[in-house]
Amino acid sequence: MRSLLFVPGDSPKKQQKGLESGADALILDLEDSVALDAKPQARTVTRDFLDAAQALPNRPFLIVRINALATGLSDADLDAVMPGAPDAIMLPKSEGGVDVGHLAAKIAVREAEAELPDGTTRILPIATENGKGVFGLGTYARASHRLMALTWGAEDLSADLGAETNRLENGSYTDPYRLARTLTLFGASAAQVDAIDSVFTNFRDEAGLRAECIAARRDGFTGKMAIHPAQIAPINEIFAPSPESLAKAEQIIALFAANPGAGVIGLQGEMLDRPHLIRAERLVARARKLAE
Ligand code: COA
Ligand code: MG
Repeated sequence: MRSLLFVPGDSPKKQQKGLESGADALILDLEDSVALDAKPQARTVTRDFLDAAQALPNRPFLIVRINALATGLSDADLDAVMPGAPDAIMLPKSEGGVDVGHLAAKIAVREAEAELPDGTTRILPIATENGKGVFGLGTYARASHRLMALTWGAEDLSADLGAETNRLENGSYTDPYRLARTLTLFGASAAQVDAIDSVFTNFRDEAGLRAECIAARRDGFTGKMAIHPAQIAPINEIFAPSPESLAKAEQIIALFAANPGAGVIGLQGEMLDRPHLIRAERLVARARKLAE
């Protein structure tokens, strides 16, 4: 999944725009982009949208961001949206695998009530929205078979830390957020799931967005969240495996297949061993999934 677009849960207009945006996934938001008074209405609007969008051909993957478990709002969120069979639930302010297990149990009950196939609703935690979450990053492995990926957030984390800013004047993150970003990669690796990069909030700055996408892809993120439809095309372009990288990966896989006994092989002056093969296989698998 390359691009995941946030759409406020109380805005049918933006939900419609989201469908036309080309995003691989929509994150229908019941949390921070919806005012407290508007939560009940947002639940209804989001449920209606899920019902209508389910039937569309080539629809995006549909994720609902519920309110954090500690708010007391998440049960009503799930009651409202689960009968609409969202593909995944996004868990904000997640503090680790225990929270994912807790949410998985809540989802399982609603799947049964709505007669949905057991275990099909995935979970996507935002794992670094507070200090506890950062320390919990190593606890997602085996938390639930529903875990689909890990993502991280810098905005709520800076509020939790009491920081004045999370970026320097040149746009790069300050140290606490670089650490959270890096630990998200390790956490996802430990849990054997994809890592998805956080939002780039300055939605008029395409050059800045592109630079951040390229850096994220370089470091191992497989996609990025977005807040505006204009961000989707650059994200999709940068996170799609390029024809060159795909051809190279296929060449590496073929080379190891042709030399089953070899642990290490030379290719155009470059040493290839097991990690290269794993990386190539992952890239090809990702390209296949995108092509589906
Ligand atoms: N999803 C779908 N459509 C969106 C959108 C989004 N995330 N963001 C903007 N649009 C639509 C606008 O409604 C507008 O439609 P129109 O041309 O029919 O009027 C069009 O795209 C252009 O939008 P623009 O005028 O450039 O921006 P804006 O000032 O209307 O909206 C935001 C700016 C930040 C309010 C808006 O992008 C937004 O709501 N983003 C998502 C916020 C969110 O969910 N945050 C939580 C996670 S961090
Ligand atoms: Mg938030």
